[in-house]
Amino acid sequence: MTQRKFITFEGGEGSGKSTQARLLADKLLALGHEVVVTREPGGSPLAEKIRALVLQSKPASPEAEMLLFAAARAEHLHVKIKPALARGAYVICDRFIDSTRVYQGRMGAVDPAFIASIERAIVDRFMPALTFVLDVPAKTGMARAAARGELNHYDDKDLSWHAALREAFQNVAKDEPARCVLLDGSRAAEQVAAGVWRAVQQRMGQA
Ligand SMILES: Nc1ncnc2c1ncn2[C@@H]1O[C@H](COP(=O)(O)OP(=O)(O)OP(=O)(O)O)[C@@H](O)[C@H]1O
Ligand SMILES: [Mg+2]
Repeated sequence: MTQRKFITFEGGEGSGKSTQARLLADKLLALGHEVVVTREPGGSPLAEKIRALVLQSKPASPEAEMLLFAAARAEHLHVKIKPALARGAYVICDRFIDSTRVYQGRMGAVDPAFIASIERAIVDRFMPALTFVLDVPAKTGMARAAARGELNHYDDKDLSWHAALREAFQNVAKDEPARCVLLDGSRAAEQVAAGVWRAVQQRMGQA
């Protein structure tokens, strides 16, 4: 089951997720809706601590990394996402399950079936109704991420890794067309935002 007011943004580094999450929130806020913008990994005090821990010292075990992020997600859902949806707010999340499927699954070393079972157990019926997968060439994303600063251990990967990451996100989007909208993120931010808004209106009946 999906949550009508739960929207996520996915894609590689520098694809414009945080920018588009903010622009969509501004649009909904201007219409008078309550909007909670949040991010993963993190999004709640304990989950942010887990994020910092995992980004600073990458676990040797791929399963340990996935489960730490899953623990952060369970906490984030419990303390922030579920209460916000229950009171009728929109929740816009910068990265969610598709990043796990891509980074720990398709690009990582964790069995996708194990990821799927943890996802079912933790997310259950709190699936986003709409997920934007922002697609940019690997070079564009890397250049934007470098300009943003704040490096983590994914930033030392080379161009071919980022190209494979891009393809993995494209495939995740293709696998679930009812939920995922693949958008060309290499256009100007305002153009991408217009595409986001069209899809929100079409899929969610939001005026
Ligand atoms: N459509 C765009 N065109 C040009 N620059 C952009 C566009 N969207 C975002 N940027 C810029 O690129 C940088 C990265 O954007 P943003 O932080 O939104 O990406 P992100 O997907 O959240 O990245 P990360 O995965 O690293 O958090 C920022 O400096 C932002 O201002
Ligand atoms: Mg970001």
